[in-house]
Amino acid sequence: MAESNVISIDSSDPLRGKSASTQEDDPARSIHPLLAQRRTFRAFSEARVELETLHALLEAARWAPSSMNQQPWSFVVATKQNEAEFERLLSCVLEFNVVWAQHAPVLVLSVAKLIFDAEGEPNRHAFHDAGQAMAFLTFQANVCGLNVCQMAGFDVAKARGLFSIPESHEPVVVAAIGYPGDGASLPEKLRKKQSAPQTRRPLRDFVFEGTWGRPATWTEE
Ligand SMILES: Cc1cc2nc3c(=O)[nH]c(=O)nc-3n(C[C@H](O)[C@H](O)[C@H](O)COP(=O)(O)O)c2cc1C
Repeated sequence: MAESNVISIDSSDPLRGKSASTQEDDPARSIHPLLAQRRTFRAFSEARVELETLHALLEAARWAPSSMNQQPWSFVVATKQNEAEFERLLSCVLEFNVVWAQHAPVLVLSVAKLIFDAEGEPNRHAFHDAGQAMAFLTFQANVCGLNVCQMAGFDVAKARGLFSIPESHEPVVVAAIGYPGDGASLPEKLRKKQSAPQTRRPLRDFVFEGTWGRPATWTEE
C-alpha cells in the first residue's frame, strides 16, 4: 500500500477528540487520514467561518456525483453574521441538539429534490445524492479545519414552512459547522459521547459475496 494511504494519526488534532489513542492501533483504519480522522465533534469555538471558506464547502458539494447528473441538492445557509437568519434555522433544530448546535457559527439545511427535472418522475436517488453532496461538503470542511455535525433531529415540517420549501423537495439534515471548540464545555452526557471510541460494524457484516448475507471471504483477512 502506498505510504500516503496509511494513516498517521496526530492525536493532538482537536478534530479527533480525546479518543484518538483508542483507535490508533486499529489496522482496519488503513484509510486516508482525512477519512480516518473525521469524527462528529459537537463543541464549537466562537470563531466565525469566513464566507470564502463557506463558499469552498458549498463548491465541494457542487462537485459531488449524482444520478443522471440531476444534482438534486439545495442548501439553506444561515450564519451568525446574520443573527436573525441564524435564529430562524436554529428554531427548527430539536432541543437536544440546540444545546450544542447553538454555539456553531453556521447552520446548513440540506434539501433533496425528489423528482426529475424533465419528466417530474420520482428520483429514487435524491436522498442518496444529497447525502453525497453533504459528504463532499464535510470533507472539504475538515480540510479547512472545520467540524461538521449533521442532525436528523430537527422539525422537518417547520423547516418546510419557514423556508417555503415546495412539496417536490424534502429537507434532509441540518448541519452545524464551525471550528472546533473546547470539548470540556459540553454537558456531561455529550462529553462522554464525544470521548467514547467510534464504533463500526465489521466488513463481514455488510460486505457480501455470492448471496445476501454471505460475507465476502477476503473481508476476513
Ligand atoms: C444523517 C445524520 C443524522 C444525524 N443526526 C444527529 C443528531 O440529530 N444529533 C447528533 O448529535 N448527532 C447526529 N448525527 C451524528 C451521528 O450520531 C454520528 O455521525 C454517528 O454517531 C457516528 O459518529 P462519528 O460521526 O463520530 O463517526 C447524525 C449523523 C448523520 C449522518
